[in-house]
Amino acid sequence: MKHFTSSNAISRQLNKLEQAGQSIGFVPTMGALHEGHMGLIERAKAENNVVVCSIFVNPLQFNRQVDLDTYPDRMKEDKAMLKSQDCDFLFSPTKEDLYQEKPALDYDFGSLGRGMEADYRPGHFEGVAAVIDRFLRVLKPSRAYFGEKDFQQLAIVKWLVEKENFDTQIVGCETIRFENGLAMSSRNYNLAEEDFKTASEIYQWMKFCQKNKGQFEPQELAAFCFEKLKQKFEPEYVTIADENNMKPLEKWSDSKRPRVFIAAYLSSVRLIDNLSLIN
Ligand code: PAF
Repeated sequence: MKHFTSSNAISRQLNKLEQAGQSIGFVPTMGALHEGHMGLIERAKAENNVVVCSIFVNPLQFNRQVDLDTYPDRMKEDKAMLKSQDCDFLFSPTKEDLYQEKPALDYDFGSLGRGMEADYRPGHFEGVAAVIDRFLRVLKPSRAYFGEKDFQQLAIVKWLVEKENFDTQIVGCETIRFENGLAMSSRNYNLAEEDFKTASEIYQWMKFCQKNKGQFEPQELAAFCFEKLKQKFEPEYVTIADENNMKPLEKWSDSKRPRVFIAAYLSSVRLIDNLSLIN
């Protein structure tokens, strides 16, 4: 695996490959890799000639300094995992290298940028859009792979690609879960061992929503789960929304693709997850 830290150097290397007719798969990450990321790399390997993984903890997408400061850093372990997955290129730029030009953060995401993560992490999606914009300009990948765990992020990235007319296909990949249902996440590295089991209750309440659609209106169901979660978590939101436009549902008939979204703190670890309510 070749490791690049300079945008210019990796761009030159990938341009050559592209001119030789090679397709490039891209998996953006902030490191602290886990099996979910490995699933993205595996899919990218299967669908492209070469695969680039980026590790860059993007300061622009953190609205709380403490969250940025405590984001897990596992570069040594990450590199070993990427090598064992036969990843071709690792790109880990500095912020000075990546943001040579000051990014504009004045996006209007419409309904995709309202509610849920947008409300609880002001500026987060503007930071995500800025970094993905930069990466797509430097790497010009054929395909880029994102996990559905960050479902609202995935919608924002698709919006960005359409707006900027990038020649990259965005591929959303199903969330990979532990056997107990807990979604794989870099933040799990910060969970205390005894919290692993409790953390899976987020999944259980999402499954509850899936099974009990008939008994409640969407907002009632969301409020019920929010109250239940409060027993062990500090929930920020439980929202049932349309998965295409992210608008919260008043009635089930408002959407053909309802999805439940949850964000909750367990001890000081912020967990998010979502599940389609079509079963
Ligand atoms: O999902 C993430 O890890 C990040 O938001 C991403 C897509 C790598 C952008 O920094």
